[in-house]
Amino acid sequence: MRIGVIHGPNLHLLGKREPGVYGTLSLSEINERLKTRARTLGVTVETRQSNSEGEIVSWIGEGESWYDGLIINPAAYTHTSIAIRDALLAVSLPTIEVHLSNIHKREAFRQVSYVAPVVLGTISGLGPYGYELAMLALVHHVQKASP
Ligand code: DQA
Repeated sequence: MRIGVIHGPNLHLLGKREPGVYGTLSLSEINERLKTRARTLGVTVETRQSNSEGEIVSWIGEGESWYDGLIINPAAYTHTSIAIRDALLAVSLPTIEVHLSNIHKREAFRQVSYVAPVVLGTISGLGPYGYELAMLALVHHVQKASP
């Protein structure tokens, strides 16, 4: 089983970016933890980060050829991007939305997710652990769906 992980804008700055909100782990540390956990599950994980909405849209569009499931933290595009939502609707790729912070506890504009209505589920507020939980849920979902 192959899982793609897409990290959206500014998440390459994790570790130094608002550590009180997003924690002190860097993106590569988060990715490494996820890959370590993936190995114990026999799952392959590929992680990508982009600050560009168009690039994220393209990756989602190609995702079906490469992955059995997708984890996405669209970051600020969560709250703005119809293009990312449409891309997710265009592919049959089980997807889980992850946020490090609890977007429902924050500013009103962060409490709206354009992505949430078109994904399997959303994990928000559990820090980097949210990515591991998303991976467990995807493995469960894909195995249940396969004959
Ligand atoms: C975020 C929450 C978003 O509102 C914000 O724009 C981010 C990160 C999170 O992981 O908590 O960049 O997606």
